[in-house]
Amino acid sequence: MSFIVAIDGPAGTGKGTVTPALAEKFNLMYMDTGATYRCVTLRLLNEKVDFKETEKIKEILKSIKIDFDENNNFFLDGKDVTKEIRSKRVTENVSQVSHLLEVRLAMVDLQRKLSEGKNVILEGRDIGTNVFPNADVKIYLDASVEERVKRRIKQNKEKGIEMTEEEVRENIIFRDTNDKNNEIAPLKQAEDAIYIDSSDLTIKQVINKISKIIKKNKAKHDRMEKGYIMTEETTFKKFRRKCVKGILAGVYHIFYRVEKIGSENINTDEGIIICSKHVNSIDAAGIVLLNKRYIRFIAKHDLYRFKSLGWLGHLFNIIPVKRNTSDLKSIKMCLKALKDKEALGIFPEGTRNGIEKNADVKNGAAFLAYKAKVKIVPVGINGTFKLFSKVVFNYGTPIDVNDYKTDSPDWIDHATEEIMKQILELSKIKK
Ligand code: DC
Repeated sequence: MSFIVAIDGPAGTGKGTVTPALAEKFNLMYMDTGATYRCVTLRLLNEKVDFKETEKIKEILKSIKIDFDENNNFFLDGKDVTKEIRSKRVTENVSQVSHLLEVRLAMVDLQRKLSEGKNVILEGRDIGTNVFPNADVKIYLDASVEERVKRRIKQNKEKGIEMTEEEVRENIIFRDTNDKNNEIAPLKQAEDAIYIDSSDLTIKQVINKISKIIKKNKAKHDRMEKGYIMTEETTFKKFRRKCVKGILAGVYHIFYRVEKIGSENINTDEGIIICSKHVNSIDAAGIVLLNKRYIRFIAKHDLYRFKSLGWLGHLFNIIPVKRNTSDLKSIKMCLKALKDKEALGIFPEGTRNGIEKNADVKNGAAFLAYKAKVKIVPVGINGTFKLFSKVVFNYGTPIDVNDYKTDSPDWIDHATEEIMKQILELSKIKK
């Protein structure tokens, strides 16, 4: 899974200097997404296309070839256009071109494709909000207009671009307004982006600030990736798991008066899926710790972000899953576990009290049960989990999803509905 850093913000905030430096420091591929819009603009200007000629623009977008090398040299249809795309005529028109829906769709697609499978840092306007809304690091870099004017004039001088101070100021204000009012992907700070005002900071200070954030998140990202690599099942690991399980089970019994009903339903020699109600963050522990059978739960991969939880995750071989994606790695791990006749714990609600929150019930359990030809044991939970209160874990009769298998493609939804219905029934048991 790629590690993605998004650096967004208005023109002239230092993104173009800071981003390549960070790319080098952290060995990330650097992508200047603004340059992709500049390449399209250059081609449209060269072909004297009116920006209203949608059909013609669509045709051009089909054939256009934009690429770049590790030194951030840009190639348009095979020709090096690094300098040309910074020219006054491109700069004056790029904002307008970047507002065209067809251009945006094509460029976002290109930016995603070029990033595929890579650890990458992208600078732009809509990276954290639109291109990669799930980026690992999101920075919104800002600076006052006056500071940005000063910087741009210096930059232009170095690059031999002739523009007066007034022209630079007008261009920055014009582009700010245009970028922020872009109807398709307006420039705005993503909710989870970190805001940095670089007006009074040196480049080095900005780099240091962002570096700290990247370092922290890269460590978390690496831990999450390691969640997919199970540590070896040595005798020592099994012994440690047994000890930790014993201690934690003891603690569980101190804090809750636990009653188990029908737990013998999971004691088979076969692979089995335990589908439980999800009421809080420690209900899975109640199933894993308080049964003799070794049970592996499936949990959101974020669990491995945290050192201590990651340690427990590895000890209990918890299978990570990325939400809202078809996480093939995770599915393969689950199928392998079931083939090895293991017991898997899944929360079909996906999130705590999903039913109560009207969340869609996930049909992954029914899918896995069908693929691995194993049964599902529904589990109801009744209890508030207030300290020293009673909690009932009610294990139901195993369900064979094949009983629901019909030619209709939505049989899996019906099976999932039935499983959830039984979980809710089992949760109604009197305390
Ligand atoms: O960063 P720059 O000045 O090279 O960007 C050129 C133009 O492209 C700018 O007007 C905003 C637009 N742009 C965009 O709309 N989305 C991006 N991700 C990057 C740039």
